[in-house]
Amino acid sequence: MTQRRLRGRSTHAHVAGEGCAIAKGAPSRTKGQVYTHEGPQDFVTPSALTEAEIAQTIADFADAARNAVEAGFDGVELHGANGYLIHQYNDIDETDRADLEATYTALVGALAPLGLAHLHQMESPEVRDLVVRLRKAWPGTFILNPFSGMEPTGPDALDLIGDGTADLIAYGGLFLANPDLPARLAAGSPSNTPCNAGARHSAGTRTDQGFAGGSALLKEYEHPDG
Ligand SMILES: Cc1cc2nc3c(=O)[nH]c(=O)nc-3n(C[C@H](O)[C@H](O)[C@H](O)COP(=O)(O)O)c2cc1C
Repeated sequence: MTQRRLRGRSTHAHVAGEGCAIAKGAPSRTKGQVYTHEGPQDFVTPSALTEAEIAQTIADFADAARNAVEAGFDGVELHGANGYLIHQYNDIDETDRADLEATYTALVGALAPLGLAHLHQMESPEVRDLVVRLRKAWPGTFILNPFSGMEPTGPDALDLIGDGTADLIAYGGLFLANPDLPARLAAGSPSNTPCNAGARHSAGTRTDQGFAGGSALLKEYEHPDG
């Protein structure tokens, strides 16, 4: 699988070039900062997408997906979270619980008949009951990245497969320090702790240290060819 995403207004010219920041409707700057090669920078004011640009963006996503499949990927996941462009079009007031429930219920209902390979849900705090309802409404494979606060998702999350909450669990931070994470989970072995785990991703996780610091548990992972 590969993932396609457009960060929308959550980007900066230092990351993606001038004019890269685009948004739905009246342009407004996202609060906070984005991590760039020149260090953290404030988000910029995006330009509002026109009708023609929306149509072009949809066509671009389709092209990108076709190119990925042509290049040999089995599937493509569209990133619809983290305030990126697709997420912005979900039109949710995240502070309004009823709106959150209604929007995601409608979204999953609309996606369900499309025969997609999977739905990958990234859980916010205190919405497990909604996640369980969405899982029940989804006819296919349901991947969950459970909310785990400032700690990376750990081995205990596998219980959520056992109790039917999800078909698969997505691991992020733990993979950075454990290149052989599936083998460790299968063996019930302890894991290396990702360095700087609290900083999470674009805000400064050191992927280089994460990988370098994570020694493999099993011999075949150290020498896969022999
Ligand atoms: C270095 C890093 C890069 C990430 N990049 C992406 C990404 O490109 N797309 C995505 O959907 N999530 C991305 N994530 C988020 C993870 O998929 C996951 O949702 C998040 O790390 C929380 O899960 P965890 O508790 O297992 O770390 C990234 C996380 C890290 C640590």
